[in-house]
Amino acid sequence: MNIELRVELFDFSRKSDLIVVSSFKKKSSTDLGHLNTFLKKPLSDIRIYKNFEADYNKSLYYPLDKNRLALMIGLGEKEKLTAEKLRHSFGLIFKTINDKIYNVIEIDLNSFNIFNDISKTTQIITETLNMAAYTFTKYQNQRPKTNKVNNKSKADSKTDAKANNEKKKIILIVKNAKEAHSATEGLERGNIISSGINFTRDLTNEVPNVMNSEYLAKVIVDDFKALTTKTKNKFAIRPASKLNAKLTFKTLTLKEIKKEKMNLLLAVNQGSAYEPRVIYLNYRPNKATKNTKHIALVGKGLTFDSGGYSLKPSSSIVGMKFDMAGAATVYGAFKNAIQLKSEYIISCFIGITDNLVSSNAFLPDSVIKGRSGKTVEIISTDAEGRLVLADILDYANNFKPNYIIDVATLTGACVRALGHVCGVMGNNEEFTKKILDAAKSQDERAWELPIFDEYRDDIKSTIADIRNTATSGNAGAQKAAAFLEHFIKDEMSWVHLDIAGIDNVGHLNYCPKGSASGLIVRTLTQFLLTKQS
Ligand code: BES
Ligand code: MN
Ligand code: ZN
Repeated sequence: MNIELRVELFDFSRKSDLIVVSSFKKKSSTDLGHLNTFLKKPLSDIRIYKNFEADYNKSLYYPLDKNRLALMIGLGEKEKLTAEKLRHSFGLIFKTINDKIYNVIEIDLNSFNIFNDISKTTQIITETLNMAAYTFTKYQNQRPKTNKVNNKSKADSKTDAKANNEKKKIILIVKNAKEAHSATEGLERGNIISSGINFTRDLTNEVPNVMNSEYLAKVIVDDFKALTTKTKNKFAIRPASKLNAKLTFKTLTLKEIKKEKMNLLLAVNQGSAYEPRVIYLNYRPNKATKNTKHIALVGKGLTFDSGGYSLKPSSSIVGMKFDMAGAATVYGAFKNAIQLKSEYIISCFIGITDNLVSSNAFLPDSVIKGRSGKTVEIISTDAEGRLVLADILDYANNFKPNYIIDVATLTGACVRALGHVCGVMGNNEEFTKKILDAAKSQDERAWELPIFDEYRDDIKSTIADIRNTATSGNAGAQKAAAFLEHFIKDEMSWVHLDIAGIDNVGHLNYCPKGSASGLIVRTLTQFLLTKQS
């Protein structure tokens, strides 16, 4: 479903189908925003409105004239309303306005401005509506009817697609030019961030018979290249004049990955029909000096994880196309930060392969020396994410960033421990707190898990330096983090985000069920744009 959001001044003569306004418990005359001044009879005189208690997510329709309805959305008590409750309301509002009977919808921004910040309110509404409108229907010949703007009967798939390309107009109404300016700013930020999120979702949702390592690397690099002027020279440093920054990139193919001695990534790739890929992307603002902080993002890009010889049971294999969500997440956030002109130098490192069985696939009991020189005893070929990340983290360390954040669908243990929450583990309290704060500011659920010393002991091997799974079963998310920690240089501040429990979720009405969530993109974007004290 395509929607197009616009900011415009209130104009009662505009031909629209629906005007959405908020309504709070203990109604006040300002609740109805612009509407009140234009109504022939004050709504407060109408019995049904008087009796409408405006409980959270209760709604009331009122005909304004022959053609137009007002939709009053109950938001409960004003003091108790939070940004996340507002998102949830707009998730529901989207379901209403998505109906084909409404073509032009107006939303009275002022009535939803609970933060006394039109820009922030607009950004949240924009992000939420764009997230709620997302669908992954490219493989459906007959797309859902509700997605069509016009009610065409017997539409063949061609006209269907055409209807899908039509954009439903949503007008965000404000009362004066000053508000229009702030709202437009919020709209632009919201549009950038949600298109980053939806790009992350598109990558993550792509099916594994299309999404192989070479494909993923190409799609990301092509998208990155499109952020700046095109050039024929693959490895050139190109001035991105509009961004006031330099963008550089490098794709490591099999030959270069071998040269880098990324033998852990290569081991996971042994069973694959495709070459592995490592991509390095760099954003450097022109204003950067030698004091500018450098942040490295590292993503797990397993285009499919069967478990390898430590094969997963068939029910656990379904959904493993999502095992590159970490890669898609760091890229989505990276792209947002570039477009919103982060002041930091940011690098993005992504390790890509699948994890399959074949006569060449790597074996449990193997011992492999990765890029760092440390030897790893393979206990389970299904603990492959940490192997790929080990080589990529070691590679990232070479670039001497001040901060490293890795994002990975790393452990089922994290899902069992926390449910639909991002697991946060790190080696520096202050830095970990910054990430937790960024998550909190976006209402994305993130929770710290401790890495205790005995977890570190538990991954010691008797025949190699370390083993890839622990000797005992509990605290699997933290033991995976203890493994990754081996590949972080002492002076580096590092945070590991285990997103296995949130790559797809069912509890957020603006994240389609069974589909990639794009969660944590907002958190990372926020961190990359926050000035540090
Ligand atoms: N990709 C999985 C983790 C995962 C599990 C993501 C469930 C999403 C949902 C990862 O590669 C994996 O298989 N981890 C193993 C580690 C174990 C062998 C120590 C796991 O969690 O079972
Ligand atoms: Mn696995
Ligand atoms: Zn995996």
